[in-house]
Amino acid sequence: MDIIYKHEIPAAEYNGLRTGAGWRSLSLEQAETGLRNASYLISAWDGERPVGVARVISDRGYIYLIVDVIVAPEYQGQGIGTRMISSIEEWLAQEKEGKPTMMVYLMAAEGKESFYEQFGFKRRPGEGHTGAGMTKWMD
Ligand SMILES: CC(C)(COP(=O)(O)OP(=O)(O)OC[C@H]1O[C@@H](n2cnc3c(N)ncnc32)[C@H](O)[C@@H]1OP(=O)(O)O)[C@@H](O)C(=O)NCCC(=O)NCCS
Repeated sequence: MDIIYKHEIPAAEYNGLRTGAGWRSLSLEQAETGLRNASYLISAWDGERPVGVARVISDRGYIYLIVDVIVAPEYQGQGIGTRMISSIEEWLAQEKEGKPTMMVYLMAAEGKESFYEQFGFKRRPGEGHTGAGMTKWMD
Protein backbone atom coordinates (compact mmCIF):
# COMPACT_ATOMS: atom_id res chain seq x y z
CA MET A 1 0.00 0.00 0.00
CA ASP A 2 1.35 3.42 -0.97
CA ILE A 3 0.74 6.00 1.71
CA ILE A 4 1.27 9.63 0.69
CA TYR A 5 2.17 12.28 3.28
CA LYS A 6 1.03 15.91 3.04
CA HIS A 7 1.18 19.01 5.21
CA GLU A 8 -2.51 19.83 5.09
CA ILE A 9 -5.89 18.26 5.80
CA PRO A 10 -9.40 19.69 5.35
CA ALA A 11 -11.34 20.26 8.59
CA ALA A 12 -14.06 17.72 7.74
CA GLU A 13 -11.50 14.96 7.11
CA TYR A 14 -9.63 15.89 10.30
CA ASN A 15 -12.93 15.61 12.21
CA GLY A 16 -13.52 12.22 10.58
CA LEU A 17 -10.19 10.94 11.88
CA ARG A 18 -11.01 12.31 15.33
CA THR A 19 -14.38 10.59 15.57
CA GLY A 20 -12.88 7.38 14.11
CA ALA A 21 -10.47 7.35 17.06
CA GLY A 22 -13.36 7.89 19.48
CA TRP A 23 -12.46 11.53 20.06
CA ARG A 24 -14.79 14.54 20.08
CA SER A 25 -15.82 16.08 16.81
CA LEU A 26 -15.19 19.84 16.66
CA SER A 27 -17.21 22.54 14.92
CA LEU A 28 -15.81 23.08 11.44
CA GLU A 29 -14.92 26.65 12.38
CA GLN A 30 -12.94 25.52 15.44
CA ALA A 31 -11.25 22.76 13.49
CA GLU A 32 -10.28 25.14 10.66
CA THR A 33 -8.88 27.71 13.08
CA GLY A 34 -6.88 25.06 14.91
CA LEU A 35 -5.49 23.55 11.72
CA ARG A 36 -4.57 26.97 10.35
CA ASN A 37 -2.70 27.89 13.54
CA ALA A 38 -0.73 24.66 13.85
CA SER A 39 3.01 25.25 13.64
CA TYR A 40 3.52 21.91 11.88
CA LEU A 41 1.08 19.39 10.50
CA ILE A 42 1.49 16.08 8.73
CA SER A 43 -1.31 13.97 7.29
CA ALA A 44 -1.24 10.49 5.77
CA TRP A 45 -3.36 9.52 2.77
CA ASP A 46 -4.28 6.27 1.09
CA GLY A 47 -5.30 7.75 -2.26
CA GLU A 48 -8.15 10.16 -1.55
CA ARG A 49 -8.69 8.73 1.92
CA PRO A 50 -7.17 10.47 4.95
CA VAL A 51 -5.71 7.79 7.25
CA GLY A 52 -3.56 9.75 9.70
CA VAL A 53 -2.77 13.15 11.15
CA ALA A 54 -0.40 14.65 13.70
CA ARG A 55 0.41 18.26 14.48
CA VAL A 56 2.50 20.55 16.65
CA ILE A 57 1.37 23.71 18.45
CA SER A 58 4.17 26.03 19.49
CA ASP A 59 5.27 29.47 20.63
CA ARG A 60 8.27 28.94 18.33
CA GLY A 61 10.43 30.05 21.26
CA TYR A 62 11.01 26.97 23.31
CA ILE A 63 7.62 25.27 23.85
CA TYR A 64 6.41 22.61 21.41
CA LEU A 65 3.25 20.58 22.02
CA ILE A 66 2.52 17.48 19.93
CA VAL A 67 -1.25 16.98 19.57
CA ASP A 68 -3.84 15.06 17.57
CA VAL A 69 -1.72 12.01 16.74
CA ILE A 70 -4.26 9.73 15.06
CA VAL A 71 -4.00 6.77 12.70
CA ALA A 72 -7.30 5.34 11.39
CA PRO A 73 -7.94 2.03 13.21
CA GLU A 74 -7.65 -0.21 10.13
CA TYR A 75 -4.29 1.43 9.25
CA GLN A 76 -2.68 1.13 12.68
CA GLY A 77 0.38 -1.06 13.18
CA GLN A 78 1.77 -0.35 9.69
CA GLY A 79 4.34 2.28 10.62
CA ILE A 80 2.23 5.34 9.77
CA GLY A 81 2.34 6.74 13.31
CA THR A 82 6.11 6.22 13.43
CA ARG A 83 6.53 7.95 10.09
CA MET A 84 4.46 10.96 11.22
CA ILE A 85 6.31 11.33 14.54
CA SER A 86 9.65 10.96 12.71
CA SER A 87 8.61 13.78 10.40
CA ILE A 88 7.75 15.89 13.44
CA GLU A 89 11.13 15.04 14.98
CA GLU A 90 12.90 16.20 11.81
CA TRP A 91 10.99 19.47 11.89
CA LEU A 92 11.79 19.86 15.61
CA ALA A 93 15.50 19.33 14.88
CA GLN A 94 15.34 22.22 12.39
CA GLU A 95 13.55 24.38 14.94
CA LYS A 96 16.26 23.55 17.47
CA GLU A 97 19.01 25.09 15.33
CA GLY A 98 20.48 28.08 17.15
CA LYS A 99 18.41 27.43 20.29
CA PRO A 100 20.17 26.24 23.46
CA THR A 101 17.12 24.33 24.62
CA MET A 102 13.54 23.40 23.74
CA MET A 103 10.77 21.56 25.59
CA VAL A 104 8.52 19.15 23.70
CA TYR A 105 5.28 18.16 25.41
CA LEU A 106 2.61 15.61 24.64
CA MET A 107 -0.25 14.02 26.53
CA ALA A 108 -0.24 10.29 25.79
CA ALA A 109 -3.60 8.54 25.74
CA GLU A 110 -3.86 5.61 28.13
CA GLY A 111 -1.79 2.68 26.91
CA LYS A 112 0.04 4.73 24.24
CA GLU A 113 3.00 5.76 26.41
CA SER A 114 5.37 3.12 25.09
CA PHE A 115 4.70 4.25 21.51
CA TYR A 116 6.20 7.62 22.46
CA GLU A 117 8.98 6.26 24.68
CA GLN A 118 10.69 4.92 21.57
CA PHE A 119 11.15 8.58 20.53
CA GLY A 120 12.72 9.51 23.86
CA PHE A 121 9.69 10.89 25.70
CA LYS A 122 9.57 10.28 29.46
CA ARG A 123 6.45 9.43 31.41
CA ARG A 124 5.10 11.81 34.01
CA PRO A 125 5.29 11.51 36.90
CA GLY A 126 8.85 10.33 36.52
CA GLU A 127 12.24 11.30 37.85
CA GLY A 128 12.93 14.51 39.75
CA HIS A 129 10.10 16.91 40.41
CA THR A 130 7.78 15.85 37.58
CA GLY A 131 4.12 15.62 38.54
CA ALA A 132 1.21 14.34 36.45
CA GLY A 133 0.26 16.21 33.28
CA MET A 134 -3.10 17.91 33.77
CA THR A 135 -5.91 19.02 31.45
CA LYS A 136 -9.50 20.20 31.62
CA TRP A 137 -12.28 20.39 29.09
CA MET A 138 -14.35 23.59 29.17
CA ASP A 139 -17.85 22.76 27.95
C1 LIG B 1 -0.83 5.48 18.80
C2 LIG B 1 -0.91 5.46 17.29
C3 LIG B 1 -0.81 6.86 16.76
C4 LIG B 1 0.26 4.60 16.74
O1 LIG B 1 0.27 4.68 15.33
P1 LIG B 1 0.55 3.38 14.46
O2 LIG B 1 0.64 3.82 13.05
O3 LIG B 1 -0.43 2.33 14.79
O4 LIG B 1 1.99 2.94 15.02
P2 LIG B 1 3.15 2.24 14.21
O5 LIG B 1 2.58 1.23 13.27
O6 LIG B 1 4.02 3.28 13.62
O7 LIG B 1 3.89 1.52 15.38
C5 LIG B 1 5.22 1.81 15.65
C6 LIG B 1 5.69 1.01 16.79
O8 LIG B 1 5.00 1.39 17.98
C7 LIG B 1 4.37 0.27 18.54
N1 LIG B 1 3.06 0.71 18.99
C8 LIG B 1 2.01 1.09 18.25
N2 LIG B 1 0.98 1.41 19.04
C9 LIG B 1 1.41 1.22 20.29
C10 LIG B 1 0.82 1.34 21.56
N3 LIG B 1 -0.44 1.74 21.70
N4 LIG B 1 1.54 1.07 22.64
C11 LIG B 1 2.82 0.64 22.52
N5 LIG B 1 3.44 0.49 21.35
C12 LIG B 1 2.74 0.77 20.26
C13 LIG B 1 4.24 -0.75 17.43
O9 LIG B 1 4.26 -2.04 17.97
C14 LIG B 1 5.46 -0.47 16.62
O10 LIG B 1 6.59 -1.10 17.16
P3 LIG B 1 7.58 -1.93 16.21
O11 LIG B 1 8.07 -0.94 15.20
O12 LIG B 1 8.61 -2.42 17.15
O13 LIG B 1 6.72 -2.98 15.61
C15 LIG B 1 -2.22 4.78 16.82
O14 LIG B 1 -2.33 3.54 17.43
C16 LIG B 1 -3.49 5.57 17.06
O15 LIG B 1 -3.81 6.46 16.28
N6 LIG B 1 -4.26 5.29 18.11
C17 LIG B 1 -5.57 5.93 18.35
C18 LIG B 1 -5.47 7.38 18.67
C19 LIG B 1 -4.58 7.63 19.83
O16 LIG B 1 -4.76 7.07 20.88
N7 LIG B 1 -3.61 8.49 19.62
C20 LIG B 1 -2.61 8.79 20.60
C21 LIG B 1 -3.02 9.95 21.41
S1 LIG B 1 -1.74 10.41 22.47
